[in-house]
Amino acid sequence: MAIQKVGVVGCGLMGSGIAQVSAQAGFPTVVREVSPELVEKGLKGIEKNLARLVEKGTISEAAKGEIRGRLKGVTSLGELKDCDVIVEAIIEQLPAKRELFASLDSLCPSHTIFASNTSSLTITEIASATKRQQRFVGMHFFNPVPVMKLVEVVKTIATDPAVYEEMVAFGAKLGKTPVRANDGGGFIVNRLLVPYLLDAIRALEEGVGSVVDIDNSMKLGCGYPMGPFTLLDFVGLDTTYYISQIMFDEFKEKRFAAPTLLKRMVLVGWHGRKSGRGFYDYTDPANPKPMNL
Ligand code: CAA
Repeated sequence: MAIQKVGVVGCGLMGSGIAQVSAQAGFPTVVREVSPELVEKGLKGIEKNLARLVEKGTISEAAKGEIRGRLKGVTSLGELKDCDVIVEAIIEQLPAKRELFASLDSLCPSHTIFASNTSSLTITEIASATKRQQRFVGMHFFNPVPVMKLVEVVKTIATDPAVYEEMVAFGAKLGKTPVRANDGGGFIVNRLLVPYLLDAIRALEEGVGSVVDIDNSMKLGCGYPMGPFTLLDFVGLDTTYYISQIMFDEFKEKRFAAPTLLKRMVLVGWHGRKSGRGFYDYTDPANPKPMNL
């Protein structure tokens, strides 16, 4: 059955981006948040992104109106019951995700495909809360979703191969380059990215170089768009910390263990760009200053 209507659960940083690309790709899209305020905030962010695309001449004012018209923000899960695909992008906590999908499982018709945007939990653990493990995949997008070209499409040993191919094709319809990944902790990107980011913190702890010098090394020496500390602040130190804990739990390997400094920074509330402080101080967001760590 062709995918016609898309549901997105969560309208934060990732969910709003996923809803935006879905509506831009022509799908009527219902996006759900827990309160009207959060729905409003997520949709405002999308409108701002679309306005920027109009300013740059990427889309017309009329197209912007059509895209916005395809988006519906809701607070009730029941409004997602006629969606053909539901992509979840809520808090990165297993019990919350399992509870959500168990509710959706009893609400949605049997053909609806479920996808989780988790970056580190295994899809199998989430899917096993439902009776439709054969219609369950991972769709892992990257921040900022409207800009980053990749989506990891993740299959478990229980995913129906036809459903999986349909979701790979859906990823391409969203304008992304889908890569196929199996359900190993962290899939492809975080399996490689997380040890790299954690190693940058260890290098700082060991006095190998300063925040700015390590960032410049990877930017200018390797052509990365952001150095590791800028990227850590962008992703969120709390998020990185939780991911590292989940991956350490899965693999029991030191390369996934959170460095002491990361844990301390999370404990004091320095979560990166979103909290105003991380490896840099964002008091002047256009001109971040390295913290004295
Ligand atoms: N939303 C929408 N568009 C955005 C945006 C956002 N949040 N941030 C930037 N953009 C757009 C800008 O409008 C601009 O568009 P045009 O070129 O069409 O004008 C374009 O992106 C480039 O932006 P800037 O010129 O302002 O800045 P930049 O060249 O430094 O690019 C960046 C910004 C795209 C974020 C770039 O720095 C980058 O690629 N950084 C690395 C990001 C990354 O690694 N993301 C993955 C994180 S890991 C993850 O998400 C998964 C996980 O599980 C942890």
